[in-house]
Amino acid sequence: MYYSDETVEEVIARNDIVDVISQYVRLTRKGSNYFGLCPFHNEKTGSFSVTPSKQMYYCFGCHNGGNVITFIQKYENMTFGEAVRVLADRAGIRLPESNDRAAMEREDRRAELLSVNREAGKYYYAQLRNKAGAQGLAYFRKRGLTDETMQRFGLGFARSSTDETYRYLKGKGFSDEVLRQSGLFSFSESHGMRDKFWNRVIFPIMDTGQRIIGFGGRVMGDGEPKYLNSPETLVFDKSRNLYGLNIAKSSKAKNIIICEGYMDVIALHQAGFDQAVASLGTAFTSGHANLIARYARENVSRDEMTRYKEILLCYDSDGAGVDAAKRALTILREAGLRAKVISMSPYKDPDEFIKELGAEEFQKRIDDAENGFMYEIRQLEGEYDLKDPSGKSSFIKDAASRILRFDDPVERDSYIGLISYKYDVSASSLGEVIRKLAVSGTQIRPAPSPMPTRNDRSGISEAAKLPQCRLLSWICDKPQIYGAVRKFITADDFADPLYRKVAGILFEQIEHGTPDPADIISHFTDEEEQRRIAEAFHQSIGELGSINMQETALRDLMMNVKQLSLTRDDREENDFDVIIRIRKEMEELRTAKLDIAGT
Ligand code: GTP
Ligand code: MN
Repeated sequence: MYYSDETVEEVIARNDIVDVISQYVRLTRKGSNYFGLCPFHNEKTGSFSVTPSKQMYYCFGCHNGGNVITFIQKYENMTFGEAVRVLADRAGIRLPESNDRAAMEREDRRAELLSVNREAGKYYYAQLRNKAGAQGLAYFRKRGLTDETMQRFGLGFARSSTDETYRYLKGKGFSDEVLRQSGLFSFSESHGMRDKFWNRVIFPIMDTGQRIIGFGGRVMGDGEPKYLNSPETLVFDKSRNLYGLNIAKSSKAKNIIICEGYMDVIALHQAGFDQAVASLGTAFTSGHANLIARYARENVSRDEMTRYKEILLCYDSDGAGVDAAKRALTILREAGLRAKVISMSPYKDPDEFIKELGAEEFQKRIDDAENGFMYEIRQLEGEYDLKDPSGKSSFIKDAASRILRFDDPVERDSYIGLISYKYDVSASSLGEVIRKLAVSGTQIRPAPSPMPTRNDRSGISEAAKLPQCRLLSWICDKPQIYGAVRKFITADDFADPLYRKVAGILFEQIEHGTPDPADIISHFTDEEEQRRIAEAFHQSIGELGSINMQETALRDLMMNVKQLSLTRDDREENDFDVIIRIRKEMEELRTAKLDIAGT
């Protein structure tokens, strides 16, 4: 960890989680917790909870959770160190010098790479406006870009040279090691450092904080490769950034347009569609979908429904574009988002479309955008022979299985209506096919779950997870029971390695004072671990009733946890002594009087 435990503790302590999250999410108090609409997935009912007593947040819908630092990290797409600094700043805490070399160097390296990029960006920018860049300037002008557009996107030019950019940056005092990590140069023993970008027009790629994180470069005219992009570096993660989002994020438009290329984004912005973004020469990813979800979110309205800007896919008209659109639709749906598709035919892409037909025609295409699901179904048509009754029946079955993916009955009904109308089947027989599929269950196309299944990732079954989480959560909520618990349970009894560590810290906290779950989270840097800990502490222990019932429930829970610990994966056969001991403890526990009265 970059900062000392004490520092992190102080940062957490001085940033009340309710205050901080309220700046991003509208929270309503319910009992001792706050609830709101989860900023990490699309929802209409607030399953996102913030617990002041634990200084933690947890979403019962998508199972995201953590402490105040986790929240800022996730929401602002920041590293741990960046989030700590933001929060320290907010609370007026002066951060001491760090003592963790490696992490500090990493942060420094990131900062340095960003300044390499900034200097390189300035250099390319100046070149475009120099004599040396006349060719690049002519190229952009030929493609119809105005000077203002070129300036807004910081476009530049890398001229034909073997190492001029390298020497320029070297002159600015950057070390070879940093320059090598910037991805802007290729290195070989025989030739040393060489400019990767030469004789190309340059598109600097910015993150939403307006920092240059990488570059794209296009050959002028024909040549291979047409576009050359910076490789991923410490500061450039292609699957979590979108070209143009630095501008599109403040667009007033009611929709957001996702297209394929840099030039498409630029042409659209120049035509007044400043809501256009593109993925960075890679396929659309779930990281992009999350980014879109965050920036497409409109102000939460009074009825507490999340409203999203309309998401429009505007991909190339060729086969590759159709495939890319289908994939993007699936990824968006998995993130809980719906999208529409804009057709550019007969032109290749939005850039050409705008050039040929202009902004007004493009706006018409936006207005005529096709519902994403109906687009998919239309693409599906081609796989069946609809003139043949059995072909048509198979097609309808396929479509029906896709309709089943929607949980919302109203949405399902709308698609039944649309498809029965369009493909000339009665709504009732389509409904019948869907019902049959739903009942048989076997033929349903696997419905993409809105979030990855959590169990798959942690590799721990629900049955094993619940008792361990409930016990941790209960002890944390009611540390008074710890006296009764510790006679039978130690941290080592938790079968899951993560819960074992958590129990160790939690028990120690209680021995020395009070539980502090938010602080426990800061002992872990892995996002998935943080999420699982937040989840554990949000396990409901339910209504417990009388002291007697509470004792019974607690006993069952502890028995459960003990039983699970017997089957710990890492137990060796020859841990026989341990197993005998645990069995004995379980015997005792079965009959012991658990004194939790007065808790
Ligand atoms: P123009 O010909 O300049 O209009 O480009 P385009 O945007 O129409 O290009 P295309 O549809 O071929 O590509 C879309 C996007 O894919 C580009 O903006 C690049 O991000 C990426 N891309 C295209 N060609 C290449 C390539 O050769 N290599 C890599 N890495 N990416 C490419
Ligand atoms: Mn193009």
